[in-house]
Amino acid sequence: MYLFFLTLHSLFRWVVLTGLLLGLGRAYRGWLGQKPFTPFDNTVRHTAATLAHVQLMLGYGLYFVSPLVQAFHLRDAEHAPTALFFGFQHVAAMTVAIVVLTIGSALAKRRSTDAEKFRTMALWFTAALLLILLAIPWPFSPFATRPLFRF
Ligand code: HEM
Repeated sequence: MYLFFLTLHSLFRWVVLTGLLLGLGRAYRGWLGQKPFTPFDNTVRHTAATLAHVQLMLGYGLYFVSPLVQAFHLRDAEHAPTALFFGFQHVAAMTVAIVVLTIGSALAKRRSTDAEKFRTMALWFTAALLLILLAIPWPFSPFATRPLFRF
């Protein structure tokens, strides 16, 4: 169960990042190029938020089976920095990032003009992306390192 969630959660990061980058691409293109907000833009906005919610569910699934999170709760000194990262920092930063993404997506949907929709989506999605990039355990991260691909 642990390896299943870990592998899926690790690979799904690429799906989340692709959705978010596509959303940002459409948002900045529409905002700066003064384009109309099309049904495709709306689908991209909605899909990017939904993919992040799937990752949130996978993350919380992993949270309850991960030995590292367990070590964090037991204050296991041997795993201290990594356990702190996965037991608290990663989870907190990612949860906040997905809340930011969700608020941005909901606000964009309710804006009255196309320019406002694109602008709202661009700004809130950028904030969420920065937080996500910071909290991913990249092989070069100063906080915790994990492989780029896990099979
Ligand atoms: C966009 C959101 C997220 C992304 C992109 C993401 C990405 C990742 C990545 C790349 C790993 C390393 C996997 C590996 O070892 O190969 C990881 C580990 C982990 N994630 Fe996330 N994550 C996200 C959100 C969350 C959330 C919301 C939670 C929990 C509530 C969570 C819980 C965990 C845990 C517990 C681990 C470590 C498991 C272990 O090594 O035992 N993640 N995450």
